[in-house]
Amino acid sequence: MDRFSAENYKSFDIPILNNLSEEFFIRKEELCQKLALPGIVIEGQIQQLRESGYNVLSDKEKGYRIISRPDSILPFEIKNKLTTSYIGKAVFYYPEVSSTNIIAREIAQGKGYKVPEGTIVISDKQNSGKGRSGKKWASPPGGIWLSILLYPETISYHISLITLMAAVVVANTIEKLFQIRTQIKWPNDILIKERKVCGILTEMGTVAKGIEWVIVGIGINANNDSTELPEDIQKSSISLKEITGKLIRRAEVVRLLCTEFERFYELLKRKEFSIITEKWKSYSNVIGKKIQVNTGNRVISGEAIDINDRGGLILKTEYGDNLEIISGTVLK
Ligand code: BTN
Repeated sequence: MDRFSAENYKSFDIPILNNLSEEFFIRKEELCQKLALPGIVIEGQIQQLRESGYNVLSDKEKGYRIISRPDSILPFEIKNKLTTSYIGKAVFYYPEVSSTNIIAREIAQGKGYKVPEGTIVISDKQNSGKGRSGKKWASPPGGIWLSILLYPETISYHISLITLMAAVVVANTIEKLFQIRTQIKWPNDILIKERKVCGILTEMGTVAKGIEWVIVGIGINANNDSTELPEDIQKSSISLKEITGKLIRRAEVVRLLCTEFERFYELLKRKEFSIITEKWKSYSNVIGKKIQVNTGNRVISGEAIDINDRGGLILKTEYGDNLEIISGTVLK
């Protein structure tokens, strides 16, 4: 595909949803007029809504009214009541995809058309979800699998900080919505009761003069059960449903996540790095602890003493020197 065309990345949507509500009935003729669609298409969309779990009442005289909604992440459910300026204003939703990061990358690399900063790609299910270090990321239905596309005017020096920022955003969102304290395991695993509820994968595209785009991929175990995940990670994973004991509204989580993301991303743009790193440290489960980090080519031991402005972890080694580690995995 050499030219980006919105058609190639047509988001799944049910446009009629924007005109229906729980509060009042709307007549079919009015819907036809508003959406410039024939009655048969309106009926088809009502059917599609019902198949997606919406309970829609239809009355010959009064028209249609929503009785109840499922836990849906259709674009309207996310954008409705969203108060951000740009994060989440454009939503590409797919019931099933390979990986939202892959789709977001294709969109970012599309020539001839640039989607706005803050565009989201979200899906109910990923078939080839990507984790860190080339690992697979299990993404069964019920989770929140989304990617946010950014065009940061920053040198690559600060890219690690975007990942840390995203971890703070998720931790804040969970705390505000569910009053649950989370911990961040460096660099970007969000834990509840020592079990992973969210992972973040940041990818970027560069051109000669710097960064062209950044994709922040966020995977949250939400309404899925940890028993649906591969056996080897079941015990170390947890979902929001499991921790709260009830089904959560994913669209509500996504909306607050967008709001928090925009707030922190604006701080990043204003170079107010320390607000981000201080907040990150308040959630960290490694600062002040003796840990081992696998950097890919070696394992380094030391005490985690700080995070610097570019998201690097500062380790005080047994020889007394301070090492900066930009990427790696904490072993213990
Ligand atoms: C990790 O290994 O902890 C990072 C996991 C990141 C998963 C998310 S889900 C949405 C986005 N799309 C992907 O394929 N991966 C990220």
